[in-house]
Amino acid sequence: MTENNSVKAQTIYLKDYRQPNYWIDQTELDVNITPGLTHVKARLKIRPNKSLANEPLVLVGEGLTTHHIAWNGRALGQGDYAIKGDSLTIFLPLSEGWLETEVSFNPEENTSLEGLYRSRTMYCTQCEAQGFRKITWYLDRPDVMSVFSTRIEADKIQCPILLSNGNLIEAGELEGGRHYARWYDPFKKPSYLFALVAGDLACKTGSFTTESGRPVAIEVYVEPKDLDKCDHAIDSLKRAMAWDERTYGLEYDLDRYMIVAVDDFNMGAMENKGLNIFNTSCVLANSKTTTDLGFQRVEAVVAHEYFHNWSGNRVTCRDWFQLSLKEGFTVYRDAQFSADMNSATVKRIEDVNVLRSAQFAEDAGPLAHAVRPASFIEISNFYTLTVYEKGAEIVRMLANLLGVDAFRKATDYYFSTYDGQAVTCDDFVAAMEYACAKDFSQFKRWYSQAGTPEVTVSDHYDADANTYTLSFTQSCRPTPETEHKLPFHIPVAMGLLGDAGSLKLQPKDFALSDDADNTHTVLELTEASQSFVFSNVFEQPVPSLFRGFSAPVNVRFNYSEAQLIQLLKLDSDEFNRWSASQELAVIAVNAALQEPAAFRVSEYWLEALSVIIDQQLIEPAVIAYMLQVPSVSYLHDRSPQHDVLAIYAAREKVVKVLAHSLENQLTTIACCYDANAAYQVDAASIGRRALRNTALLLLAHAGVPSASELALGQFRSANNMTDQLAALKALIVIDESDITAEALDEFYQQWRHEALVVNQWFSLQAAVESEKALTRLEQLTQHPAFQWSNPNKVRALISVFSNQNVTGFHCDSGAGYKWLADVVVKVDKSNPQLAARLVTPLTRWAKYAERGRTMRQELARIAAQPLSKDLFEVTEKALKAS
Ligand code: ARG
Ligand code: ZN
Repeated sequence: MTENNSVKAQTIYLKDYRQPNYWIDQTELDVNITPGLTHVKARLKIRPNKSLANEPLVLVGEGLTTHHIAWNGRALGQGDYAIKGDSLTIFLPLSEGWLETEVSFNPEENTSLEGLYRSRTMYCTQCEAQGFRKITWYLDRPDVMSVFSTRIEADKIQCPILLSNGNLIEAGELEGGRHYARWYDPFKKPSYLFALVAGDLACKTGSFTTESGRPVAIEVYVEPKDLDKCDHAIDSLKRAMAWDERTYGLEYDLDRYMIVAVDDFNMGAMENKGLNIFNTSCVLANSKTTTDLGFQRVEAVVAHEYFHNWSGNRVTCRDWFQLSLKEGFTVYRDAQFSADMNSATVKRIEDVNVLRSAQFAEDAGPLAHAVRPASFIEISNFYTLTVYEKGAEIVRMLANLLGVDAFRKATDYYFSTYDGQAVTCDDFVAAMEYACAKDFSQFKRWYSQAGTPEVTVSDHYDADANTYTLSFTQSCRPTPETEHKLPFHIPVAMGLLGDAGSLKLQPKDFALSDDADNTHTVLELTEASQSFVFSNVFEQPVPSLFRGFSAPVNVRFNYSEAQLIQLLKLDSDEFNRWSASQELAVIAVNAALQEPAAFRVSEYWLEALSVIIDQQLIEPAVIAYMLQVPSVSYLHDRSPQHDVLAIYAAREKVVKVLAHSLENQLTTIACCYDANAAYQVDAASIGRRALRNTALLLLAHAGVPSASELALGQFRSANNMTDQLAALKALIVIDESDITAEALDEFYQQWRHEALVVNQWFSLQAAVESEKALTRLEQLTQHPAFQWSNPNKVRALISVFSNQNVTGFHCDSGAGYKWLADVVVKVDKSNPQLAARLVTPLTRWAKYAERGRTMRQELARIAAQPLSKDLFEVTEKALKAS
């Protein structure tokens, strides 16, 4: 495979975009599956694009053996066409007509998990972004939209179920134990939304009736052993369908909605029209085997793929540079949905944690790219946190700048104007401008400039004039494609807090205009430096800035500890109360870094937390997050001059101090809080479990003697996966070797027939911080349940180790880096997409000073091998960084 994979890399630029010179109005596929060889006949209705000069038709294909090519029924001869590398050029002058091709390939040997491949007992497809070209010769680009009909033929016993997009038209028996099915999708779509599944699958059904009365049959296809894990996905889908009708006025448009669960899958899931294909980890759930986070993830991903039916499928992307048009918008939509179904504050905290600890790092690293990138070598490398999560933040800022009604007006306009078309991020913003008569030309820099803006704020209180001035400056570090950044348009949601002790005002926030109720406002920063003056401020206030994380920026304000504690106690914005607690944790970690032996943790912070726990006025899940010290990754970004292992050690110390100081309350929570409640998966129950398990884990960290017994008791008596896994995690932290090893073994024996639970078991162990971490990891890769060909398993061990196991991965010998490099080279030979993701931690070498040199050497060692396009792009860009 190495030779095929190491293709000469070619950079593709947004500025070079031009329309295709032909359209394909209809696509008729005939897919004939036999073990080891699949034949595909394609009939394509071709139409020249009149706005372009007549040029030869050039189709793209990868790894295809071509048997036959014909134009309007006449076989093409030698001089009529040429196949060179991945392209098929037809030299005949073409008017409207039918092009026919017949090709074959072997899905069983397709380990890239792109195109048509085999996963365990089934054949399935993944065509986004450019996998369709592994199925047939095509104009495999999203602005070519076609009506698809698909005939599938296979062995009846091996593949009793045959699925493709749209509606089932016909099915029947054939000779020799074979059978077929014909599917027709009435909606024009780009090839990346094509899907096909053939296998021996069981089906769980449900139904939904749309607002306008259309009955929709819901079908979830799984391996028979997983039939007991479909209900949550079906319920989530129904909730998502109803929510999208309510919130966006959007209905489902086919008679059937199918979801197939596949074990070997590179990503989370795929929104193929009418036939979503899901990673088992994002669709299967039941209370025995799935954690609370797992349940919420299934709900979110099912909704995400459903929402794509409009934001992605009905209105699609003109080219892959516009990926965030569908992904950013759809992530925003699924976040709104999750916030509505569960807790808005908790969802916001979770999303901001991802941004701060992972997306910011991407933006600061050598692979930083704009939400709408200007160029790429391999588009698969751009399914990133930046395109998805930062893209969603852009939509969120727009939605907040417009307000609910105007935003709805804008999305109505967007969906009705562009229905059936392939459009751009500019078109999306134009729809926003249409609805509110604002000019977003500066705002659009969020799409084109990479990097996380840094906003530095200072204040001045004038006691004589009763005025308060906030001065903002914004800047953004250079990123690979852009040295100098122009100012961003940054919404700052904010309020001013008075001192609760002396201030008699109700609410406690200062009014920000003549209207006393107006205690919250949104400032719009547009300049590099800008000041805002507030009058009638009768004492020095504490500014509550970027409420709800109103923009994806790093904020620098020199808060005193006392001010942060006031925000933590009194801010009307719950998100900022959490954020203040995080900031206090950062201060404590920095103190531990400065003076490891004798540092101090603010007793006021600890006391405020203690009061918050006692009062129980904030929902338990938010309290749980307040008790969590920020990730090493985030702390490292905040204190880049310190070594990562020192940061890890300092963080551990702060966690211990926190746990010791709250020991009594945490013990009460860990043993008694909601302990005997019947198991339910609603947001409130999930939140209570989160608080109880956070308490348990903190006690384990603190080495409190009772923690061991508590954890073991919970491990044995738990009636759900969340509590059992949390207890196991605590036992690992406590690390009384015999007990921990026994529990790990017991857990494996109990769950060894549940692949997704075994993955959790792998992850837990890959994250165990110790000098022996690498040895343990190596042993786990030899475990009979581990499989290099399954991305979930590879991620469970390798990604968890290299991203979360700080002391193991960054051990002084450099063995962690070397090991990862070897793994990456090995995986690249079978699955380039996966390899290009696994290598990420090494690309961040520049953050790691001395260690970084070793990391870079390992990268260079990788780069010296013959590589796939995917891995080549990532390593090359990472090596260029300084
Ligand atoms: N569109 C899918 C989703 O976000 C992801 C597909 C990713 N595919 C890939 N080859 N990177 O829902
Ligand atoms: Zn998506």
